[in-house]
Amino acid sequence: MPKKIAQRAKEISPFHVMDILAQARKLEAQGRDIIHMEVGEPDFDTPLPIIDAGLEALKSGKTHYTPALGLPELRQTIADWYQQRYQVEISASRIVVTPGASGALLLIMGALLDQGQNVLMADPGYPCNRHFARFVEGSAKAVNVDASTDYQLTDAHIETHWDENTALALVASPSNPTGTMLNHQQLADLSNAVKAKNAHLVVDEIYHGLTYDGFEAPTVLSVDHNAFVVNSFSKFFGMTGWRLGWLVVPEDYIEVMDRLAQNLFLAAPTVSQYAALAAFKPETVAILEQRRQIFEQRRNALLPGLRELGFDIPVTPQGAFYLYANCSALLNDNYPDSMALSKYLLEHASVAITPGLDFGSNQAEQHCRFAYTTDSERLLEALKRMANVVKKS
Ligand SMILES: Cc1ncc(COP(=O)(O)O)c(C=O)c1O
Repeated sequence: MPKKIAQRAKEISPFHVMDILAQARKLEAQGRDIIHMEVGEPDFDTPLPIIDAGLEALKSGKTHYTPALGLPELRQTIADWYQQRYQVEISASRIVVTPGASGALLLIMGALLDQGQNVLMADPGYPCNRHFARFVEGSAKAVNVDASTDYQLTDAHIETHWDENTALALVASPSNPTGTMLNHQQLADLSNAVKAKNAHLVVDEIYHGLTYDGFEAPTVLSVDHNAFVVNSFSKFFGMTGWRLGWLVVPEDYIEVMDRLAQNLFLAAPTVSQYAALAAFKPETVAILEQRRQIFEQRRNALLPGLRELGFDIPVTPQGAFYLYANCSALLNDNYPDSMALSKYLLEHASVAITPGLDFGSNQAEQHCRFAYTTDSERLLEALKRMANVVKKS
């Protein structure tokens, strides 16, 4: 037992899926073939042009710190990306390069949340957000969302749930775990509702680029220049292990972000920043587009199969690489909740999924998340295996 653990650390819980993953690894060590649908990162390796740029940077001595706000060329390249992809003009000075979206979220919470204040966020949602809030002595104010609003916060939620201690509203579009998006109008409505509270809206756009059925996720910056945007090279760009992301902040927040970044991280990883300069090149974007199409094919293969098995997925997700399913119809005395079902599926079907508990407490025991971060053949095999062991009641 450690002598002392701070209260804030005691209140930060581990991911439940880690239990599933540990058990999966154990079974694999015994020779079992496990199909992994619990993993929240692309199975594709980083595109070659990015790797080459990283190698070149290493060889040419790019191994020192960059400025805390990021490499100026990268900040400019990201700003150009907003112009090219969204036709939104952003000054490079407003881009803050961070160690992943995780670093960006920590900076935002550190800069905007006072002790005792809360952040409105959707439940289900990305689990770390509430822990980032706790880490800076604030808290998450979870708002239960469901299919009726595509599992997203709305302006009506802002009206109902905002209290005197609320400092921010945080949404993700496309979202983890539901893969659902906010359109222009919904973003504008949210932004207006938050502005009316004299506060800021934070939009996590980490799954931008991974959208399907011809839809593009709009950036909140096209409707609100004062919103904070979180983004990352992890998902669309396939760079999870490089630990690189970015923030777009309003002009008058650059100085505080610089101070916090200097003190918390000094800077984002230098080699990763040089490598990321190649992420927006046409040859890289062409590779990423092919991968996007593969994700779409996988979603199209998995979604009807899960529905047929009895998983209820009322909203067809148009982004990210997740399906969030209500599994109530499949539960029984042997596996009465989604955690027990996840363990049962691992044990009896050799399929690993994530229980809803990892995304909050709103009907978490009736939900689970499937990540289609494995190839279509394996996804179809997973459906077959599950069909052999679970039955709709
Ligand atoms: C919605 C969301 N935000 C942020 C992150 C953090 O990503 P990273 O720190 O790798 O950029 C994740 C990772 O799964 C995520 O799903």
